[in-house]
Order: sequence, then structure tokens, then C-alpha cells
Amino acid sequence: MKILVLNGPNINMLGIREPNIYGRETYKDLQNLILENAQGVEIEFFQSNHEGDLVDKIQEAFFKGIDGIIFNPAAYTHTSIAILDALKATKIPCVEVHISKVEERDAFRQISYVREACLKTITGEGLSGYVMALEFLKEYLK
Ligand code: DQA
Repeated sequence: MKILVLNGPNINMLGIREPNIYGRETYKDLQNLILENAQGVEIEFFQSNHEGDLVDKIQEAFFKGIDGIIFNPAAYTHTSIAILDALKATKIPCVEVHISKVEERDAFRQISYVREACLKTITGEGLSGYVMALEFLKEYLK
């Protein structure tokens, strides 16, 4: 089983960016946490600050035979039809993750374009949300 952990803009700044919202752990800590919980699942990480790179990666995942995606599109959640269309085109089982509880934040964070192409959404669980998404996909894909 191969799972892509895909992160959008500013997730590389974890630990530095707004620690009151996103915590003090870094992107490296996030990668280590996921690898500790992988248990035989092959994990690929990709983070980009560029919308088109995320679209390219979703398409590449399809052609490579990736089984599932754990995806925090970050700010592109709220703006990107292109990313939604890539998920719809490839139909790769995807779980949407947000570190913060987006539903309790700004009005402009209440729209998620990607949600309709995702099996499940996890918000407000910090970095553990990614592990919860991994557990869900392991069960879903087996
Ligand atoms: C986020 C929430 C988004 O609204 C924000 O733009 C992010 C991170 C989260 O993980 O809580 O960059 O996706």
C-alpha cells in the first residue's frame, strides 16, 4: 500500500508560523510522526507552495499507482477548483486534514473546494489528524 502525504502552502513553516494555532512542531516532526505510524505502508511526502505543483503531484500519483492521499491543501482548500478537479479526475481515495479547527476560524476558511472529492475530513486534531487519516486509509484500502 502506497500513500502520498500531500501538503500545501506554508506547511513547511510549521513550528515557525503562528504557533498558537499550528503548534511548535515542525514539518520534519510531522514526517517523523507519520513514519512512526506507517507500519509497512509505503509513504511519500510532498509539500509545495504552488498550486500547479500540487495538481501535477496528484496526476503523477495517479500514473504511479498511489493508493491513497492524505491531503492538507492549506490555503488552497478555500480557493482551488484546479485541485478539486485533479482529485475528481484521478479518483484517488483522499482524506482532507487541517491542523486547526477551520470551522471555528475566519469566514473565508469555511469553504472547502476539495471536500467533495474527499472521503473524510479531519480538523482541529493538530498533527495527530494526519495519523488518524492514515489509520482511516489503511482500513479503507485493505
Ligand atoms: C490549514 C487551515 C487553512 O485555513 C490555512 O490556510 C492553512 C492551514 C490547517 O491545517 O489548519 O494554511 O489547512
